[in-house]
Amino acid sequence: MTRPLPRPPLIDRFGRTHTYVRISVTDRCNFRCVYCMPEEGLSWMPRSELLRYEEICAVLRAFARMGVRKVRLTGGEPTLRADIESLIAGLAAIPGLDDIAMTTKGLTLDKLAGRLARAGLHRVNISIDSVDPERFRRLTRGGDLSRVIRGIEAAREAGLTPIKLNAVVLKGENEEDLHGLVDWAGNWPDDLELRFIEYMPFEARWHESVASSELRRRLSERLTLEPDGTRGHTAGPARMWKIAQTGLRVGFISPLSEHFCARCNRLRLQADGHLRTCLAHEDTPSLRDLLRAGADEDTLEQAIRTMVLGKPEGHDCGLDDGTVFEGVMTGIGG
Ligand code: 5AD
Ligand code: SF4
Repeated sequence: MTRPLPRPPLIDRFGRTHTYVRISVTDRCNFRCVYCMPEEGLSWMPRSELLRYEEICAVLRAFARMGVRKVRLTGGEPTLRADIESLIAGLAAIPGLDDIAMTTKGLTLDKLAGRLARAGLHRVNISIDSVDPERFRRLTRGGDLSRVIRGIEAAREAGLTPIKLNAVVLKGENEEDLHGLVDWAGNWPDDLELRFIEYMPFEARWHESVASSELRRRLSERLTLEPDGTRGHTAGPARMWKIAQTGLRVGFISPLSEHFCARCNRLRLQADGHLRTCLAHEDTPSLRDLLRAGADEDTLEQAIRTMVLGKPEGHDCGLDDGTVFEGVMTGIGG
């Protein structure tokens, strides 16, 4: 097979080069996290509206030609999509994509981790907002922490490392759980990394956020935090620190208190084929409709370039100013 000629990179009006695509493969989830969904759940997208695997691969081939190197499968819960290994294998076969990751709640990793790794998955991020079983159950509306912990073990054994554990901190809900998380993850500092994320208020503002600086202050009362300079290409927007006592790396992702829009390198392909160029804003164009109308690679490429040129500069949402991100999180995948 001849390799297609590389195309110019995907640069937007603000000079940002896009090398990273997050793919939401389903809006369905096996949890009902209090910050993501209403208790009764949401009405899921009809299956016919979801991008098929060959459509996702067609879009990613176009992206890879334009310099995208990294993809992350998200959801909802990506492992709920049938035969997700075959999508991973399809993506792994695309020339240029050299980093294939997944963000999951980890509930089924005890069974799946080995299969995902063999299909070509490199790493997993696991969303876990508490290691207190009761609190975990409340935050996820019924989730079983012990299975998630077995899932994390299975992911370590399968070599899907370093595993990033992501915790969203909600005022008055799980503020105190940061200590438990830091101590638990501190048992495996070589394999695990922990990151605290400021809650981003979407249109239904269910919670209040806690500033990363406040979380650092609370940890510092008990532990020694040293700035961690290593900022590999996978570090993303997190500010990294190291806990001196255990060697655990702890990151803080602060979309509200410290905007990182100016170095944003990511795009989001939603489950229904919409390309969301910015997490904070809803865009309308659908790549699915183009694909199903028979668009060839060049047409796809031109459409993507036009969408990326329309990417806004960022959001102006602060910690306590009442502004919100447009839409709902489900089906975007963080
Ligand atoms: N603010 C911050 N993070 C969120 N996530 C889901 N909703 C929000 C929100 N409103 C996180 C999940 C997961 C990632 C995909 O996004 O917990 O870690
Ligand atoms: Fe990127 Fe938009 Fe998020 Fe800013 S708000 S970091 S521009 S996706």
